[in-house]
Amino acid sequence: MTIIHTADELLDSDICLDLRSTLGIPLHLKCEGFNFAGSVKIRAAVSMIAAGLQQGLITADSTLVESSSGNLGVALSVVAAAKSLRFVCVTDPKCNPATVKLMRALGARVVVADTPDGSGSYLAARKALVRELCLRHPGYVWLNQYQNPANWLAHYETTAPLIAKQFPALDALFVGTGTGGTLTGCSRYFRENRADVRVIAVDSVGSVNFGMPVGPRHLPGVGASERMPLLDAARVHDLVQVPEEDTVRMCRRLARRGFLLGGSTGTVVSGAARWLADHDPAGDLTAVAVSADNGERYIDTVYDDSWVHRTYGAVLDYLEES
Ligand SMILES: Cc1ncc(COP(=O)(O)O)c(C=O)c1O
Repeated sequence: MTIIHTADELLDSDICLDLRSTLGIPLHLKCEGFNFAGSVKIRAAVSMIAAGLQQGLITADSTLVESSSGNLGVALSVVAAAKSLRFVCVTDPKCNPATVKLMRALGARVVVADTPDGSGSYLAARKALVRELCLRHPGYVWLNQYQNPANWLAHYETTAPLIAKQFPALDALFVGTGTGGTLTGCSRYFRENRADVRVIAVDSVGSVNFGMPVGPRHLPGVGASERMPLLDAARVHDLVQVPEEDTVRMCRRLARRGFLLGGSTGTVVSGAARWLADHDPAGDLTAVAVSADNGERYIDTVYDDSWVHRTYGAVLDYLEES
């Protein structure tokens, strides 16, 4: 039994799915959605706030502020509540209404930046609003997940060593790329401690993170409309880009087996399945993918037939596939 005293103490669920029997894919899925924030972003939230407190940038009078499309906002809401700190989340219209309600229920203030750039991304507008809020309110502290080293250090210090311990024979690790925090932390850890492990980045088609052309994306979590600075320190062995249509198909295949997982998990599993089919047809490698969150937050998007049809057209051939 794990006994905790504050909501930000629980990071690891210890749950790992072996997808061989479910999908016939030789892949283990490390589930990061079973904590009080419901996602892997609890690690970055805990780490960035701890670093800010330690450096004296955050005091009891500070108001934390951050740009988030959802999961980090929820995670910071949880950690801020656990530490009795104020938190303002700057999000955008793509953040689903339930997530906004979740943050408010946890005591956060939520403001919405609603001017998209040419590719439909709200990232620039969110960051501009954060800067404006910090100028107007001297006690506001921007954690800046896009550049804060405590974001990737969280994964260097916790996620990666845990995976290394749980899978001593690990050959390949698949990580989705949003800010690049998880990927950079894991890739640096394995480069320094187990250089034989291949760390493979999974990104969505339309993301510019690895120099590919910008394009429309509709799902939060993986992908970016501006290259993420944290990725400068990442060393990846390979990259797989996944169209969002494949993400949706994979999520729905998993859900039909009882595993309701988040959008980026569909991306990472789909990318890993493709890479493994190409590079390990015999299924000899020990492969692990990071599942960032569970599926409830996507019930009105990835798991909603009419949203999928409106957004991608006729991609719901998943029933035939499974
Ligand atoms: C669902 C989901 N998957 C993946 C990621 C990517 O994580 P990172 O920002 O560490 O690259 C995020 C980040 O917000 C996320 O919310």
